[in-house]
Amino acid sequence: MKDEIIKILQKTFEPLGISDISVALDFPENAEYGDYTSNVAMINAKRLGMKPVELATKIVADFDKLVAKASLKGLMKSVSVAGPGFINFTLTAEAVSKNVQEISRELNGPKGSNSLKGQISNIGAGKKVLIEYSSPNIAKPFTVGHLRSTIIGDSIARILSATGYSVIRDNHLGDWGTQFGKLLVAIEKWGDEFGGLDGIKKSENPIKILVDLYVKFHDEVAIMEDSEDEKLKTEAEELVTFARAKSKILESGKDPIISEIWKVCVDLSMHEFALIYTRLGVSFDPKRGDTQIGESFFVTPDKINPVRDALNAKNLLKESEGAKVVFFGSEDPKSWKLPPLIVEKSDGTSIYATRDLAADLYRINTYGKGLILINEVGAEQNLYFKQLIETETMLGWFTKGQRLHIAHGLYRFKDGKMSTRKGKVIWLGDILDEAVTRASKINADSANDVAVAAIKFNDLKRDSIQDIVFDWDEMMSMTGDSGPYLQYSCVRAKAVIEKAKGLGIVAHIGPGSGEGSTRPKIAQIDLLERYLIRFQSVVEFAGASYRPNVIANYLINLAALFNSFYSQVMIADAKDPMAAYKVAVTQAFAMTMERGLDLLGIKVPKKM
Ligand code: ARG
Repeated sequence: MKDEIIKILQKTFEPLGISDISVALDFPENAEYGDYTSNVAMINAKRLGMKPVELATKIVADFDKLVAKASLKGLMKSVSVAGPGFINFTLTAEAVSKNVQEISRELNGPKGSNSLKGQISNIGAGKKVLIEYSSPNIAKPFTVGHLRSTIIGDSIARILSATGYSVIRDNHLGDWGTQFGKLLVAIEKWGDEFGGLDGIKKSENPIKILVDLYVKFHDEVAIMEDSEDEKLKTEAEELVTFARAKSKILESGKDPIISEIWKVCVDLSMHEFALIYTRLGVSFDPKRGDTQIGESFFVTPDKINPVRDALNAKNLLKESEGAKVVFFGSEDPKSWKLPPLIVEKSDGTSIYATRDLAADLYRINTYGKGLILINEVGAEQNLYFKQLIETETMLGWFTKGQRLHIAHGLYRFKDGKMSTRKGKVIWLGDILDEAVTRASKINADSANDVAVAAIKFNDLKRDSIQDIVFDWDEMMSMTGDSGPYLQYSCVRAKAVIEKAKGLGIVAHIGPGSGEGSTRPKIAQIDLLERYLIRFQSVVEFAGASYRPNVIANYLINLAALFNSFYSQVMIADAKDPMAAYKVAVTQAFAMTMERGLDLLGIKVPKKM
């Protein structure tokens, strides 16, 4: 219906000599203003030498004439000019019914399969996007930062694929870098305390041991450096040099034992990550075209050399204090738009940026030049990603809008128990366990789904860039703005539908059930229906702006409308001739809620 309104609006401009007008239809904030609103008159009045209200009035008159002849006939209740020149559109009750009926059909997915996997829109058709998210580091804890990246990235991927994009999900594992040199030294020096590599492998929590060893390396070096004893100071220096040498050897791939230890660390971590992804209901599925490629894949000459060549071809690689850097401006600091980016260290080993450039070149070569490339990574890397994206733009690899960094803010802990004392790691598993414990107080059978919903929704309901104050009560609330609350509204709706089935009520919004006798004249239903029909546009907007919170907030409002309907109107009443309609709207709500939550990576449990 939205498309038809736009088409007719465009036609009203033809007599004015404009045939290619772009029209935006928005949703009015206030339902009293109707179902759609457009500022097309306000935007175009000036170039036509008219006043906005004057143009709007003319458009409305022409619109009415055109509608009488078009397929929208009988479906527009009113079209009117408002305020400084807005045009507001209100659908008839019949049109609303028709729309809700379509929703049920579309959401049902391929014919009757009730899969809820149906495509919501096709705006992304023909576009390919690679979204990189999660990206935890090997032999390190999966941090709450990685959790945020996983939740947000997974949701964006779901939204984009539901709107027709072809999506590649990539987990860019941090399996390389100087930290491995340190870890290797630590394993060699103190690993025997844990029974060596084999002992670590067999222990209950190998990653924790590896992290402890890594931390120990730092602590020991710091103590030695701070001591008065010259011998210890020298030893600290030696350890650091030794670690650097190890990472160089690892990078050369020439020492099978070092490479083997590294491989063991990778496997242990991957195993641990897989468990986390399963708990979270997130997957990187090769069958779907997803990839999990570590940074290590991009350190070999066949990946690095083309980057160097490309940079040299554009004369972007400059010598600075022994390292190779890219300047954003001339070499004069006053001209710098951004600080220089180091791409090669003085010892010739690769660096984070080198590996990213190599990864992105590889991605373009693999998926084609039109690829949209997104990294979902914490805001602490904002400057770095600006530098990286600017470099890639100078290389001509991407154009504006094709290369994005979507950043997330920090987690802050107000609950004393989860506070981050300095140096104390927060283990994601502990957070998940606590969430499950709390969720099992709601319902033991659905505890995991509810716990995950609480954590995910708490994240996705805000703009990703915002920090999150971790508050269990807010997260688990059964009365508003939380994952469990939305799940509950859906479970409740489904229970009514079941009850109605038992009473022999067959949900129905059929032809002819418009203004006539089968459509109940109940304000709560009307508001709910008019809000339901926004779903597709909301998802399209969330996709185009890469913002799951658009959907999250829509679902909060939707649940509120349903709950007021549910609490004030008897739905499954066998004696009521309107029952079939009411149940059908309840069904459209349940399906929309379930599909919307699915786009946020949240499952609706059977019972709560
Ligand atoms: N592994 C990194 C970290 O934990 C994040 C990687 C982000 N992606 C990238 N292409 N640099 O900080």
